[in-house]
Amino acid sequence: MKQSWAAYGKGFAKALQGQACTTGKPEAAGPANTPGGAAVYAEESGWLKFAPAALRDLSMSDETAAPATPITPAAQAPSAAPPVATIATLGQHEGQSVTLRGWLYNLRESGKLLFPIFRDGTGTIQGVAHVKSVAPEVFEALKGLTQESSVIVTGKVRADKRAPGGFELDVEDVQVVQRVPESDPYPITLKEHGVDFLMEHRHLWVRSPRQSAILRIRAEIMRAAAEYFDQNGFIRTDPPILTPAACEGTSTLFPVDYFGDPAFLTQSGQLYIESTALALGKVYSFGPTFRAEKSKTRRHLTEFWMIEPEVAYCDLDGLLELAENFLSHIVQSVLKNRGPELTVIGRDRAKLEAIRPPFPRLGYDDAVEMLNQAHKDGHLEAPFKYGNDFGSPDETWLSNQFDRPVMVNRYPADVKAFYMEPDPKDPRLALCVDVLAPEGYGEIIGGSQRVSSYELLSSRIDQHQLPREAFEWYLDLRRYGSVPHAGFGMGIERAVAWICGLDHVRETIPFARTLHRIYP
Ligand code: 4AD
Ligand code: MG
Repeated sequence: MKQSWAAYGKGFAKALQGQACTTGKPEAAGPANTPGGAAVYAEESGWLKFAPAALRDLSMSDETAAPATPITPAAQAPSAAPPVATIATLGQHEGQSVTLRGWLYNLRESGKLLFPIFRDGTGTIQGVAHVKSVAPEVFEALKGLTQESSVIVTGKVRADKRAPGGFELDVEDVQVVQRVPESDPYPITLKEHGVDFLMEHRHLWVRSPRQSAILRIRAEIMRAAAEYFDQNGFIRTDPPILTPAACEGTSTLFPVDYFGDPAFLTQSGQLYIESTALALGKVYSFGPTFRAEKSKTRRHLTEFWMIEPEVAYCDLDGLLELAENFLSHIVQSVLKNRGPELTVIGRDRAKLEAIRPPFPRLGYDDAVEMLNQAHKDGHLEAPFKYGNDFGSPDETWLSNQFDRPVMVNRYPADVKAFYMEPDPKDPRLALCVDVLAPEGYGEIIGGSQRVSSYELLSSRIDQHQLPREAFEWYLDLRRYGSVPHAGFGMGIERAVAWICGLDHVRETIPFARTLHRIYP
């Protein structure tokens, strides 16, 4: 028997890497057996008519006290009811019985043995139920149970070195909350599905261990990013999402009819947090931003989240220091707090451990030289034309040359935004930075020192043919107490793609919005 369990462990690990899973052979449809009659099915819907006791306890804490009512009449006195636990914290319950509330991720049946894999949002665990070790109705309820049926399961936590999470669950009791009918099975199985199919079923795809792990890492990146600023004297100020004007060029604006007046979804909070920075000193914004990107690339979304710091009395050098400390904090936090998730997605930790300050700084001129050399050596197809912005292949190549993010600075002003301060040493260049993530990920941060002179900003607005009326308030920031100031924006999804080692940003956000997708 041991051998077959070991073999199953391997199957489990493999199942976790897949999109989802297959269930065991389906049994005849019909309401599952509900031990002790504590829960009864509405036959048509498969939904419980009477919620079992464990459901009544909807406390949001990870570990909750046992519900007073026994889960089944078989359970003894209330004091003996096992605590409700989560898979992530099972280590605290080794040798004890616990109740988990989740879903059936997969089921393997091998004669008298059932190997259900449960997931509960915090992780996955393999259960073991032998026909002789559980009540007949429990065995029957599990046998042939369909993938993604919701279940409340009680079992004893047993350490097992072969198990991916270090533990297995010896099943004692199971209650099926909703049984997915065989006639309409869960659409995402363990077999390979095309990306289009998965994106079409994104509302379900997020349940797969890999997608859940990515979303957990995303949440940690967002938490750590805000934490860095909160701990370093920045005040969060929220810019508007509906705006009268463009921040990042007029070609990617999403128009909105604002009671008959034209308005746009914001491309960046920057212009507004320049105002709050002059009020509060060090500020940041964190929210959704929108770009009507007509390009269909693995780096572009039409709706994405940006975190943007803005600092009064800060120059480009100060900004570079801020960027390297900020990014290092995020990556080190992910390593510290999301280790199991990095394992689930198979991310190489060593690559992330290297992300510590200082980051290399590379002038635009030197970057161009590197690109031309790469072209000569046959690494890049096209020669690079001085004065252009970098294309995707250029960024990919550059960022592959370093083991940590490279901070490319001082691009030609002509290819950059209207608000960037010129370099006093060579006014054709802007005091700006693009931070390119390693391993070919390319730009994750864009930022600059801002034009502080009223006259220069005013002429830039005209040069870029921006509507002056919409920018009068922005010009006021240079009329009244202008100071050197600087800031940057980091796209959360680009950062998630890099930190998780993903090919495409579409998996970095719960529901991606791209050129051809706005469903589900
Ligand atoms: O370089 P960008 O356009 O800079 C700004 O918006 C500045 N106003 C920010 C500032 O200085 N406060 O965008 C900043 C970052 C990019 O580096 C990238 O990470 C992300 O936002 N980004 C996108 N992410 C996904 N899809 C898109 N279409 C993106 N466009 C920009
Ligand atoms: Mg940029």
